[in-house]
Amino acid sequence: MHPMLNTAVKAARRAASLINRASQDLDALTVENKQHNDFVSEVDRGAEATIIETLLDAYPEHAILAEESGRKGQSDYQWIIDPLDGTTNFLHGFPQYAISIALAHQGQLEQAVIYDPTRNELFTASRGKGAYLNDRRIRVSRRTRLSEALIGTGFPFRDFSHVDAYMAMFRDMIQKTSGVRRPGSAALDLAWLAAGRLDGFWEIGLSKWDIAAGCLLVQEAGGLVGDFEGNDSYIDTGNIVGGNPKIFAQILQVLAPHLTEKLKSA
Ligand code: IPD
Ligand code: CA
Ligand code: CA
Repeated sequence: MHPMLNTAVKAARRAASLINRASQDLDALTVENKQHNDFVSEVDRGAEATIIETLLDAYPEHAILAEESGRKGQSDYQWIIDPLDGTTNFLHGFPQYAISIALAHQGQLEQAVIYDPTRNELFTASRGKGAYLNDRRIRVSRRTRLSEALIGTGFPFRDFSHVDAYMAMFRDMIQKTSGVRRPGSAALDLAWLAAGRLDGFWEIGLSKWDIAAGCLLVQEAGGLVGDFEGNDSYIDTGNIVGGNPKIFAQILQVLAPHLTEKLKSA
């Protein structure tokens, strides 16, 4: 395993032990509302601090982009961190959440870790070296027909500016696929797509820390990611589609009639 990936795994496991401990007594947590329906607890902050400390201990000159504490440092290497993706699930004891850590070098994603502490599932990828679940190589599914595909998504829940476009997409998607799921952690949705448990995924307006590690996992598992027109602006806009190559193209076709100007490639 690449030493930088190894360090990221160590950081994710440390954060996981803090998250697991806190999950034993959810009532004891202090929860703040960052904005409407956007919660943060001392667990998010504690997990993030542990991750950053572990990474900077090994690579003090690297830069950080982290959900709760923002940007730190200037370097060709940047760690992109979501210490707890799926906070709402976590706070309700709904076991679908994960730690997501990616490393970009000169803007290109190189290493990815997504760790699901409730199932002890560790998803990892290094550019050019494939994607893994624990010690097993993973690939995207081979399903070719959208009508047989299981698609993941995320509903708008804090910013409702695209809700009409989203509902139109959703209405089409539930009629054209075998099912649509909203598990509540975008990072895990992408990891599960990489592992073939989902055949496709789309969501509007995610943040870089939600998707960075998941994108590399999907690509290294043989899948595609893009914005709603199949281009590259997803990493900045967070408007993202993923899928195995066949399903990816069919999702774009379903979304196309519902794209407002703001949802087209930036
Ligand atoms: C959220 C989850 C969710 C997605 C949201 C994200 P958070 O992350 O990934 O699935 O629908 O848009 O913000 O806030 O729990 O880290
Ligand atoms: Ca997140
Ligand atoms: Ca988070």
